[in-house]
This record gives sequence, C-alpha cells and structure tokens, in this order.
Amino acid sequence: MELIEKIKKNAQANPQRIVLPEGTEERTLKAADIALEQKLVKELVILGDEKKIKEMVVEFGLKNIDKAILIDPVNNPRKEYFANMLYELRKTKGVDLDKAFKLVEDPLYLAVLLIKAGEVDGELAGADNATGDVLRPALQIVKTRPGISSVSGAFMMVLPKKNYGDDGVLVFADCAVTPDATVQQLAEVAVVSAETAKNIACIKEPRVAMLSFSTKGSAKHEKVDRVVEATRIAREMAPDLKIDGELQADAAIVPSVAKKKAPGSDVAGNANVLIFPSLETGNIAYKLVQRIGDVEAVGPVLQGMAAPINDLSRGCSVDDIVNMIAVTVNQAAANKK
Ligand code: ACO
Repeated sequence: MELIEKIKKNAQANPQRIVLPEGTEERTLKAADIALEQKLVKELVILGDEKKIKEMVVEFGLKNIDKAILIDPVNNPRKEYFANMLYELRKTKGVDLDKAFKLVEDPLYLAVLLIKAGEVDGELAGADNATGDVLRPALQIVKTRPGISSVSGAFMMVLPKKNYGDDGVLVFADCAVTPDATVQQLAEVAVVSAETAKNIACIKEPRVAMLSFSTKGSAKHEKVDRVVEATRIAREMAPDLKIDGELQADAAIVPSVAKKKAPGSDVAGNANVLIFPSLETGNIAYKLVQRIGDVEAVGPVLQGMAAPINDLSRGCSVDDIVNMIAVTVNQAAANKK
C-alpha cells in the first residue's frame, strides 16, 4: 500500500479534531469537504466569514461542509473569552486587551487558541499564508513540547524505486523551520524525526543518519565536530534509538559505500531518517531530490510542537491538503499515546 493510503487509513482508524483557519480559501474548503466525506477527522472546525463559506459551498456543490463547525472570527460570540485568554498568555510580551481583541479576529490566532483551550487537537494552514505567519502564532501560543526547544520540519520522501530507506521511504529534516539550530537543537531534530518516521511514515525501525561532508573523521572541521556532538547528545536523549554520525549521504544510504567508510555501523548503508546539518542543506536537498528524482515529498510535517500544527505550501493542490489533514490527525493521535 502507498504511504499516503496508510496514513489515511490510520487517520480513519483514530480520527481527531482539526481546525482549518483558511475556510474561505477554495482548495482548503474543497479539501475539507473530502476529509469529511472520507471520515479522516472526528470533528472539523472551519474558520472564516460564514456567509462567504456558505456561498462557496453552493458554488462548488460541496455536500459535506454542513458536518463541520463554522466559526467566524470577526463575529464570534466567544470573542471576549479568547481575547482574555490571549491577553493572559501574552501580557508579558506587550499584548494589551485591545490588541488581544484585534488578534482573535485573525483566524491564525483563533486556531491556536482553540488548540490551547483543548477544543481541537491540531491545525492545518498555509494555502493562503506564508510559513512565518502560520508558525509565529503557533510558536507564541502552543509552543514546543517539554524537552524540545525548537520546531523543525520533516519531509517524507516517497521514492519511485524501493532500493533506499524503508521500502522506498526516507524522512528528511530539518527542511523547513529553524535557520540557526544549535547543536542541542540538531540533536532534538534527530530524536523527533525518528518519532515522525515511526508515527507518521510507518517506519517500524528508524535508523537515523546525522549527515555531514565527512564520514567518521575523514575530514576535520568545526562543522563536522558539531554533527559529532549532536549525535552524542541525541544518543543520550534516546538511548534505544539507532543513530550514527557523522556520515556522508552516500555512506548513509548505500550499503557498499557504508562497508568501506563506516564498517560496523548499525545505521550506515541502511539509514531511513536523514538529518541535515543545517536548514539550508535540508531545504535544498529535499527540493532537488523531489524535482530531479521525481520523488513525492509529503510535508513539511512540523515536529516538536506541543500540538500538531502543519504548514502548507501556497502552491498546494486539494489532494495535498487532504493528505496533510490526515498527517495532522496521525500526529494528534500519536500525541495522545
Ligand atoms: N522553534 C521554537 N520556537 C521558536 C522558533 C523555533 N524555531 N523560532 C522562534 N520561536 C519562538 C520565539 O521564542 C518566540 O516566542 P516568544 O514570543 O514567546 O518569546 C516566538 O516563537 C516568536 O519568535 P520571533 O523571533 O518573533 O519569530 P520570527 O519572526 O523570527 O519567526 C519563524 C520564527 C517563523 C520560525 C522564522 O524563524 C521563520 O520564518 N523560519 C523559516 C521558515 C521558512 O520560511 N522556511 C522555508 C520555507 S518552508 C519550505 O520550503 C517547506
């Protein structure tokens, strides 16, 4: 079964409550209709101008949106409740009550407040908003989970051939979020990416490679030392995890190269989770592999947040949004384990 079919099946088996803040965005509303039809969610909360959403439902002939809960952030009877909540959470950061009342009219703020209030389990946005605008309210209100100091973004790379990774699936991170990760944060990316591999990419045994331009001391540089140290910290954080570094990309995934460059490693040659040393390398690598290798890239799956909040590319299709709703449901279900 294709990975995305597995992810959808898992969502149907354990559906969760999801909020879509961009309710008046055409692809999002069409995807919401499909997610409801396919029963990928237990409950769907759609934010936006209710009149406009209802007009769009008629225009596009959507049959399932009446099963969703619609909230208009501007004409919200519970505006005061959420404004007070936001004020309490952000008053030490310069948010006064006036500002809080304005901010709760922004669906991206209302969405994260609904998560914080425990009324939904996860959020998906980004078809209509830039990454930073989706992430900022999330980082301010929902924040990272205990023990993790930064959020990162993983892609599940579904290869046309099955010869690399776990039956052709590789997890790449961080490809999306933290521009200047510290060594500690790099280690955290490794640990949470292994969880994503297990919980979302259906990889039973994650094998994590900490990538560099050096394999096991073949080059000396402070950038290599950084990866070696991050590997040490990640091992301390997750002693049962199979993780090795520093490894070059070929040593990580090609058995014959691994034999020569990293003999005895339980990861080299068979890695299925690749941790890049920086956001630049991760972002560039996933885009090149996706385009040149004709590889399906599912994500970014945002990791390390206290609740799942995912960001779409503004060029996404309706199917991409449906798939990411299912991913978010899987993450929310894993959060409750
Ligand atoms: N992890 C966890 N928390 C963070 C992070 C992080 N990486 N970055 C910022 N925060 C927290 C801050 O501590 C702060 O919390 P506080 O207000 O309670 O003190 C809050 O988030 C806001 O921080 P700012 O520094 O004001 O936020 P900033 O404007 O720098 O935005 C952001 C942070 C959005 C993550 C930014 O670093 C960013 O835009 N990153 C790159 C995203 C991107 O464009 N990726 C590439 C495209 S995606 C793709 O190609 C798939």
